[in-house]
Amino acid sequence: MDIVFATNNRHKLTEINNLIGKSFCLLSLADINLDNDIPENNPTIEENALFKAWYVYRATGRNVFADDTGLEVDALGGEPGVHSARFAGENKNSDANIDKLLALLGDHKNRRARFRTIIALIFNGAEYLFEGIAEGTIIKSRRGRDGFGYDPVFIPDGYDVTFAEMTLQEKNKISHRAIAFEKLRVFLNGIPEAGHDET
Ligand code: IMP
Repeated sequence: MDIVFATNNRHKLTEINNLIGKSFCLLSLADINLDNDIPENNPTIEENALFKAWYVYRATGRNVFADDTGLEVDALGGEPGVHSARFAGENKNSDANIDKLLALLGDHKNRRARFRTIIALIFNGAEYLFEGIAEGTIIKSRRGRDGFGYDPVFIPDGYDVTFAEMTLQEKNKISHRAIAFEKLRVFLNGIPEAGHDET
């Protein structure tokens, strides 16, 4: 079954292709020739995800899901949260975002943080939300080369390596996005017309 993933981020598309199972053909925005830059300036990640998904559904009539993720740092009152991508400026520079995060946290003892992903699915005109959370801590300097975004400074609970020191397969077993997408996969596989995932 075709389903649109409202993203143009190849990295994410690969990650989600690994998670979602073989019964779905994931289409990116580029695949459906929708190259508008969908605004992401809503006050919460839930609203951002819903806005993107409805935008695509209204434009194309296709079943679609969109995700939005924020890194919530307790000592910063939940920031960067919905502002994670543009924390240090409009150009979404991960290095600058990490620099700003580490500068704000300084030597703060409470380094507790979580990645929270929300997926909004619009299926045959009805909306559904799925949440995934990865709890962890922010370390004081970068470790690892893999991953993206804040991965080099985030150690998930129960591990002593950062997300950037894990392989994609390892990260996909425990990440916020993996948890949210597993919920989406189970839901989609329960819909008779979606077929069943044999993996
Ligand atoms: P998005 O909603 O998935 O685009 O995520 C917003 C921002 O959160 C990204 O630009 C990254 O800075 C950060 N982010 C999201 N997911 C991850 C992740 O798995 N690791 C590290 N940073 C992430």
